[in-house]
Order: sequence, then C-alpha cells, then structure tokens
Amino acid sequence: MNKEICNSIIYNVYPTSFYDSNGDGIGDLQGIIEKLDYIKQFADIVWVNPVFKSPFRDGGYDVADYFAIDEKFGTMEDVKRLTDKAHALGLKVLFDLVVGHTSDQHPWFIQSQKYEKNEYSDRYIWMDDVFGWCPYKHITGFSERDGNYLVNFFSFQPSLNFGFAEKKFDWQHHYTDEVCQKVHEEVIRIIRHYMALGVDGFRVDLANSIVKDDEGGKCSCEVWRKIFGRVREEYPNAIFVSEWGQPRYAVKNGDFDIDFLTHCFDEGYNNLFRKEPDTNVVKSEGHSFFRQDGLGEAKTFFDYFLSNMEEIEGKGYISVVTGNHDLPRIAIGRSQEDLKAVFAFILALPCVPLIYYGDEIGMPYTKLRSKDGGYCRTGSRTPMQWTAGKNAGFSTTDGELYLPVNDNYPEVNVASRQQDADSLVNEVAKLVAVKRENPDLFGCGNGFELVSDTYPLVFKRTDGKRTLLCAVNPSEREYTLDTPHKAVLASANATVEADKVTLAPVSYVWLEI
Ligand code: NOJ
Repeated sequence: MNKEICNSIIYNVYPTSFYDSNGDGIGDLQGIIEKLDYIKQFADIVWVNPVFKSPFRDGGYDVADYFAIDEKFGTMEDVKRLTDKAHALGLKVLFDLVVGHTSDQHPWFIQSQKYEKNEYSDRYIWMDDVFGWCPYKHITGFSERDGNYLVNFFSFQPSLNFGFAEKKFDWQHHYTDEVCQKVHEEVIRIIRHYMALGVDGFRVDLANSIVKDDEGGKCSCEVWRKIFGRVREEYPNAIFVSEWGQPRYAVKNGDFDIDFLTHCFDEGYNNLFRKEPDTNVVKSEGHSFFRQDGLGEAKTFFDYFLSNMEEIEGKGYISVVTGNHDLPRIAIGRSQEDLKAVFAFILALPCVPLIYYGDEIGMPYTKLRSKDGGYCRTGSRTPMQWTAGKNAGFSTTDGELYLPVNDNYPEVNVASRQQDADSLVNEVAKLVAVKRENPDLFGCGNGFELVSDTYPLVFKRTDGKRTLLCAVNPSEREYTLDTPHKAVLASANATVEADKVTLAPVSYVWLEI
C-alpha cells in the first residue's frame, strides 16, 4: 500500500470542461496544465477522466485506442508535460483505466466480430449462437459472427474477456484460461505505457465488473492483485483507486489503495447527500442528512464506513466524494453555507476526500439535452466557471462550447468568489490548509470516535497526542455542545465560548480539545 497518499485529497477533472487552452471550445490537457497551480490549493492528486481516442458515445469511457490521446485533448507529449508540471508542484496524476470493455470501434473488436476465427475471436465474450438463450446483458444480430456479445454498460461497450468465475456454458472461459491471461497482459501494457510517461496511477472504471458471475468479487480481486503485483515490481508507488464501493473487497482483497464510496452498493452515501429527487443518478426520494430540513440520518453511512474501515485497516483507504461526472452536482438545493458544512465533514473524515471540479465554488447542475452519452449526467459536466468574462473564462472561442456555461456564471465563478472573504471557495482553501498543517491529526489512519450520528453530527479524531473534535450542524435548528477546547482550528456560524459551543443553523466547528 502506498502510505504517502494517506493525507491526500483528490481533485477530479472532466477534461472536456475544465479549461480550453487553444480556443476550440473544448477543454484539453494543456488547459489542465495551466490550471495545476489552482488545483494544488485544494488537492494532492488530480484524477483526469478518459482522454484516449474514442468515438465519445459514453464520454470517453468507450476507448478505441488505449495508446492514442484523442486529438481534441492533445498529444502523448502533453501527457508528459502534464505529469512533469504536476510533479514539480508536488501533485500526482491519475488517469482512468477503462478496461472492463472497449468501444465497439476498437480494432480488437472489429477483428473479433469476424466470421473467420482469428487472434481476437476470444478477446471479448461471445456466445456461440445468436439464437441461444443468454442470462447476461448482451447484443444480438450485430455482425456476421454467429453469436451474441456481452456488454458491460451501453450497447457499444463489449466486455473484454476476463472470463467467468465458474464455467457454466461451452462458450464461456474460466477466468484463469489463457485467453483471459492475454487480456491481463494487455492491461499491464496499457498501465506501463502511461506510468512510463509519469502518470502516478489510475482510477479503475467498473473495477468489480471484470470477471463475470463473481460472487463477492473474489476472482476479480485475484486478477487485480496479479496485475498490480506485476506493475508494482517496476513502480512500487503506483496508485490504484477503484470504482467499486465495497472497500472490504476492493482494498482488502484486490490490493487497491483506495476505493470510492459513492451511490453504489450501500445507501449510506446517498443518505448523507443524495436522497431528494434529482440529486442522484438512480431514482431516489427521501431526506438527505445534509439538508436544512434536518430530517435525514447518518447512521447507515457510519455503519458501512466504519465496518469497512475496520476490515481494511492498514491496507488502504476509503474515498468519500463531493461528486463526480456521473452524479448530479452536490450544489443542487444547497447554498454556499450548506456546502461549507459538507466540506467540513468530508475533509475531517478519516478518508481520502475527492472534490469534483467546481464543487469548491458550488458549481450548479444544468438541465441539458444529453451529450456524448451523458444523459442526466450531462448537466454535471458543464464548463468550469473561472471568471465573469466571456464564456466564463473557460474558452476564448466565438463559436460553440463543448457544453453551454450555466447562466449563473457572472455570480458563481472562481475569480468573483475568491474576492469574497466569506465564500465557499475561500473556506475550502482554509480547511484544506488546516488539514495540511496538522497531518497527524487528519491523517486517515488515525483514531476515530463517533460521538453523535444525528444532529449535530459529532466525531473525534486523535493521533495519540492531540484530539480534534468535528461538529457539524447542517440543519435549520440551533444546538449547543458543552465542551472545553484548546484551540479553534476552523468554524463557520458557530460561537465558541470557553466551555460551550453554539451551533447556529447550518454551521460547523473544528476544535482541538
Ligand atoms: C463508470 C463511469 O464512471 C461512467 O461514466 C461510465 O459510463 C461507465 N463506468 C462505463 O464505463
């Protein structure tokens, strides 16, 4: 496990929408390079969503060539310049490893769909008869090959053949078969290619999806362990972050350094932030804990988080996210004050927090027609709002932008908000600075005690010498806490007296006690 990352914060950049350096209306790698100083204020690791050659029918999660950068983003040389500049600033770079499937435009798949048997016939999972019964998500009648292919997600994303945990039909391969081993070798080749260019690791897309019929992810974990083991012989500090949502599998058994807790597998994360309709990518209703109505609950989250933490102890970390390119923006229905409480909570948890680009200024969700297979996710992928100027400072183009900028950009943008001492972005920068100044207290391996999982939410962190108390009140009610303290590390809307703290509606405090 890579211990260096224990105090890290991840910043997630959706590359089409972060910064356009060449005035074509689309964000690019050079644009990210130019904004690394900005990112450094908030994070230690930048995760860039896919930049590989792709028809973009699923935002680049349909890769047509793993060894080419899509021309809208730049070149392989730009990747090297990105990692060089990031490293000079003390930042690490993660790319997206999307290997559960490829695009149907990938040359492997084009060969694989042929009638004649060839080197790539078994690179994907094909049934041996188009009319056969199939319990898996599949596409039928697609090509001259007499068979249906299995898909991982959308119709044009054929599953690469990592095999099955158990072979039940003739057309299936066991996950240890030679054809599956060939896929593993390709994955290692892709990882090595980017690590040689200075990329520090990968966020692994649908990490649990590789081996099919795999109860508890046991065989997928075995495959990842093997792949990472090979990579780590050469790059011992390589970082792998899973899109899985079950750290007790991904981190404990799969050797991932970090696993994201998001909307999948457990209601805990949703219950914190994403219960109200339209706040989640899957239909939801109810009350989030982080809402002024104060009708939510945080117990489900803590039960899941703490039990997973216990199981992965010493092996890796959990990442709790403000959002990502798949989720509606966390700013939906929340003011800057509400979001300060959210950030104060996430940044004090024993986790590796992730900030989705723009969440630090409260970037809005825009209801938009689907673009590049985004569907409802499109509204969270709009251009970063940098200034109150033309195109929100995202691009100099007079033409069309990748996606329209939200109308509220004259007010909600980095430059304007940085000038307001009370703004969310300045508060987040302050919280991050406090976290960085106190690495032992905030390091994610440290002691944790949950004091109250209802309103106000209270927990303690300790490094054995010092103790932090974090109290967060997202509700419209006022609370008091009887607690002496040694120092106030950060607070908003809280009144701290010698032995008592008053938490006004929507407030938080970080105390050293
Ligand atoms: C998860 C990614 O986050 C999402 O954007 C994508 O559509 C699917 N995996 C398929 O790759």
